[in-house]
Amino acid sequence: MFQGKRFEVKLDKEFPPDPVFDSQYRRAPHRGLNLTPSEIALAVKNALRYVPSEWHSRLALEFLEELLTRGRIYAYRFRPSGRIWGRPIDEYKGITPARGIQVMIDNNLDFEVALYPYELVTYGESGQVCQNWMQYRLIKKYLEVMTEEQTLVVQSGHPLGLFPSRKEAPRVISTNGMVIGKWDNPEEFQRLTALGVANYGQMTAGGWMYIGPQGIVHGTYITLLNAGRKYLGIPSDKDLQGVLFISSGLGGMSGAQPKAVEIAKGIGVFAEVDYSRIETRLKQGWVKKVSSNLDEIFQWVEEHRKTKEPISIAYYGNIVDLLEYVDNHNIKAELLSDQTSCHAVYEGGYTPVGLTFEEGRALLSSNPTEFRKYVDVSLKQHFQVIKRLCDKGAKFWDYGNSFMASVFEAGEHSIARNGINTSDGFIFPSYVEDIMGPLCFDFGYGPYRWVCLSRKDSDLHLTDQVAAEIIDPNRNTMDKDNHYWITHAEENNLVVGTKARILYADEEERIRIALSFNQLIREGKLGPVMIGRDHHDTGGTDSPFRETANIKDGSNRMADMAAHCFAGNAARGLTMVVLSNGGGVGVGKAFNSGNGIVLDGSEYLDNIIKSGLSWDVMGGVGRRNWARNENAMNTVKNWNEAHSAEGHITMPENIDDEMVNEIVQTRLQK
Ligand SMILES: NC(=O)c1ccc[n+]([C@@H]2O[C@H](COP(=O)([O-])OP(=O)(O)OC[C@H]3O[C@@H](n4cnc5c(N)ncnc54)[C@H](O)[C@@H]3O)[C@@H](O)[C@H]2O)c1
Repeated sequence: MFQGKRFEVKLDKEFPPDPVFDSQYRRAPHRGLNLTPSEIALAVKNALRYVPSEWHSRLALEFLEELLTRGRIYAYRFRPSGRIWGRPIDEYKGITPARGIQVMIDNNLDFEVALYPYELVTYGESGQVCQNWMQYRLIKKYLEVMTEEQTLVVQSGHPLGLFPSRKEAPRVISTNGMVIGKWDNPEEFQRLTALGVANYGQMTAGGWMYIGPQGIVHGTYITLLNAGRKYLGIPSDKDLQGVLFISSGLGGMSGAQPKAVEIAKGIGVFAEVDYSRIETRLKQGWVKKVSSNLDEIFQWVEEHRKTKEPISIAYYGNIVDLLEYVDNHNIKAELLSDQTSCHAVYEGGYTPVGLTFEEGRALLSSNPTEFRKYVDVSLKQHFQVIKRLCDKGAKFWDYGNSFMASVFEAGEHSIARNGINTSDGFIFPSYVEDIMGPLCFDFGYGPYRWVCLSRKDSDLHLTDQVAAEIIDPNRNTMDKDNHYWITHAEENNLVVGTKARILYADEEERIRIALSFNQLIREGKLGPVMIGRDHHDTGGTDSPFRETANIKDGSNRMADMAAHCFAGNAARGLTMVVLSNGGGVGVGKAFNSGNGIVLDGSEYLDNIIKSGLSWDVMGGVGRRNWARNENAMNTVKNWNEAHSAEGHITMPENIDDEMVNEIVQTRLQK
């Protein structure tokens, strides 16, 4: 039974000063407001629930102005002034796990990390930590007073309260945007967010596990290498020397592309319409050159083709213009993709060709319907030029940004395999369907990550060394690439924000790495570490256009796996568990689940690591095996043999596909 001091959690009594905005930081666009007058009043009342009633008359008007001018109530006044950042864990108040979680939340809001820091958007155009600054303050307060026998419940950013639980239970259980099916669409979601009752958590934004673009560099590096192997026949011991990759976006995740292409030793050209994004990546050294002159850019490309030296180039302009130039000049482009934020295609994630970024933003706020028309025209033009380039030998894949689905929804049905609907998929593969799914997820490999909560470089260095010792480069191609990655991660200077590392790893490797870290912490050789993963993993996400694109038994429209991933991780006591709607592909199109464990050396955590990480990975592999994915079936077979005393995963019986097809065909012809 919970026993503790009397406590109450409320916002401070002191009225916060007027907010100050530093103009160097990007601001989220106003994406329109679709509330009725009575709903506008409801939205204001909803926001006032957080603050003392003596402030209501003053704040009602302020919140109303925010709603009318920005489309949402962010309660800017309640943002703590100055820089928010993931400080060393010792600078926070509370028990260790709760302090670790605070580091993660603040890192997600760091000016250096977040996309629209004042609007609590971490990445992916609309992925928020929580809905408004009052929620942020309350969450922090709860975390500061929480005991080891309590769990904080967060619903779409709203901290429902601190409930008695037990030490081996999660410290935070949270959900984001769990709209009921009938209303689970973008228009309704916009209404619900404006009302202040839904949060778009993306994946690690609302899951509080974002680690900056490094999180995606490793995955992009793996994808590019394997795209080269699969589509261009490059041998597994070679890299992308002299190969040209063209894509778009230098934003939160897309900004990882130039760095990844350089690590894979290739040549990359990336279109970006927002110059501030280019500047960020240039400053970081993640993109090497920039120009708005396509003649100049392709001269550089030619030089690098000859020298075979890697290079990353930003094109300041629209991806459609870039691709049309390549087509018109018959330039050889081996690999093509796209990382505009098409999951939020009508909300500003995609700037249509013919409009500058600024013109696009202005049209979006003045006339969202007209903006939508421009987007549809541009998407169709975009699709046509990709098709022409593919006819000339290029290979395009969808980068999980809902590009193909958006083209379809814009009215271009020839992008669907059956030309009618999306149930048979699209004419181009998605990177998960062809690469990530069969090569990584089916084996249990996924984007494992950790954050050294001390913020010490020496801790990160030690964890890199430990992980490198655990990964055996001779085990398989994946581990060969992963070993190269982890042994070169430090020199690649990938850290933005907290001292974090990403490393694709399978069930066994994840467990061994976490146990080793916990042991080192116990011995006083390492500070506390948060381990977790991207939700974009073997078992975390049900998303037919992405993570579950290589599930072919018809179940990829079901979200049972993500729901069970969440429930199973909560049952096993991972420190932080989250379930969200949407993620990288947009609301109503996916459910995703994530987690984190704060390691402080405690012995009881060893069991949570073993059972939790095993479940987190094998739940996903088990489902992939049931869909008859060959690599997943082999992984499960091996797991069943190795763990026969502890558990068993159901395997499908062998099916003779041809025999069944023939029986069905013959019977239907009668
Ligand atoms: N990198 C990955 O591994 C990965 C994985 C899954 C999904 N995604 C998806 O990729 C998309 C991008 O993610 P992000 O975090 O970088 O989003 P983001 O919004 O931060 O960046 C997208 C960038 O594209 C630019 N852009 C938009 N339209 C353009 C156009 N027509 N031409 C040139 N530039 C244009 C924007 O200015 C923006 O900087 C999202 O939909 C995300 O879900 C990425």
